[in-house]
Amino acid sequence: MKIAMVGSGYVGLVSGACFADFGHDVVCIDKDPAKIDSLRAGIMPIFEPGLAELVTSNARSGRLSFTTDLAAGIAGAAAIFIAVGTPSRRGDGHADLSFVYAVAEEIGQHLTNDAVVVTKSTVPVGTGDEVERILSEAGLTVKFAVASNPEFLREGAAIDDFKHPDRIVIGTEDEWARSLMREVYRPLFLNKSPILFTSRRTSELIKYAANAFLAVKITFINEMADLCEKVGADVQDVSRGIGMDGRIGAKFLHAGPGYGGSCFPKDTLALLKTAEDYEAPTRIVEAVVKVNDARKRAMGRKVIDALGGADAARGKKVAMLGLTFKPNTDDMRDSPAIAIALALADAGVAVAAYDPEGMELAAPLMPGVEMKANAYAAIDGADACVIVTEWDAFRALDFARVKGLMNAPVLVDLRNIYDPAEVRAMGFAYSSVGRV
Ligand code: UDX
Repeated sequence: MKIAMVGSGYVGLVSGACFADFGHDVVCIDKDPAKIDSLRAGIMPIFEPGLAELVTSNARSGRLSFTTDLAAGIAGAAAIFIAVGTPSRRGDGHADLSFVYAVAEEIGQHLTNDAVVVTKSTVPVGTGDEVERILSEAGLTVKFAVASNPEFLREGAAIDDFKHPDRIVIGTEDEWARSLMREVYRPLFLNKSPILFTSRRTSELIKYAANAFLAVKITFINEMADLCEKVGADVQDVSRGIGMDGRIGAKFLHAGPGYGGSCFPKDTLALLKTAEDYEAPTRIVEAVVKVNDARKRAMGRKVIDALGGADAARGKKVAMLGLTFKPNTDDMRDSPAIAIALALADAGVAVAAYDPEGMELAAPLMPGVEMKANAYAAIDGADACVIVTEWDAFRALDFARVKGLMNAPVLVDLRNIYDPAEVRAMGFAYSSVGRV
């Protein structure tokens, strides 16, 4: 089957490459000629483990190609995916749908064969209706249907998530679109990945509900962590203790500095806006957004406390290990590191940082932070070291060397990657999240 993927960003590129790997004939389309040129040359616009290999091997076998020409790209495609960005609209938190609608208009101008138009971008409830209206008004002489097919890909594990999904959600009321989508996902269907067919509006909401629920889970355990610190309990054991209950589930119960990334912050805000528009407030999600924002700033104060408080901290130097919102990505969007760096700068603390992939994107977001070539260079001369992102590279630091390089052996572990007793035995003042 020929598939067109409009938008070659994170979601479009991973999905397009995986569909090609399933054996479909995929054209990835993007307006940005520089991006298309580099993709043709095998250079990825993002860091995602395994993506470069998948793209190059499928491009070489002729199943995956790239173009800036939408008309040519969608010609003959039975499924046309819209996978463009839906950023938070400046000022109000609503999802900005202008890119989605612009693509729908363009499809309407150029569609010359029967096709199902599928929205993969994360879009508020009702967006599919609007895409359908745009296509209906384009005066098309061919048959079309509009479906919703949200993605549930985690950055850093996106290819595996695509190929082994917990579920595939397809929202459409049209029987022809359903059977075509079943063909699109046939290899996964054969592998017994569950496919859930719903109405289009339900499918659109499922995506937001899933991300909001995960944000609730993380924020819940983060608040439990704060309570653990006060009452002398251990949040990792609390996570285990509640996670073993099958009704709760063990995943997404790692306490940390607060969630970031391209999805949770933006999607929770967009859900709140939808809830407001429809006068059905989601107060739990409202609280989660506030608590998570405050938490990121509070993590800066935690580091300042480890330095001995505001007065003692002024003029001192902190090493930050990890800047991206999570490991195995170069994505800096809404990373807690940004709020922490800001809080430290405001407190007159100098910061040297190292991140395996994120420094290029991080540098403009945290002016004044010195980017270093490796963890030890960042630690050199520091009065405290803070682990912000749990990259594997930080899981087995040479503590003798760390201690030798630091001005004072103070470690703040915001991802709980070390055993408190072991680190303290090596002479460090150690603090973490939800453990005493
Ligand atoms: C998320 C969803 O998982 C994915 O299904 C959706 O399509 C896009 O958003 P992603 O943003 O890539 O994926 O990362 P994820 O692994 O979900 O982590 C999000 C944030 O939550 C990170 O900042 C991470 O550090 C934090 N997190 C996650 C925790 O603090 N604790 C946890 O237990 C899990």
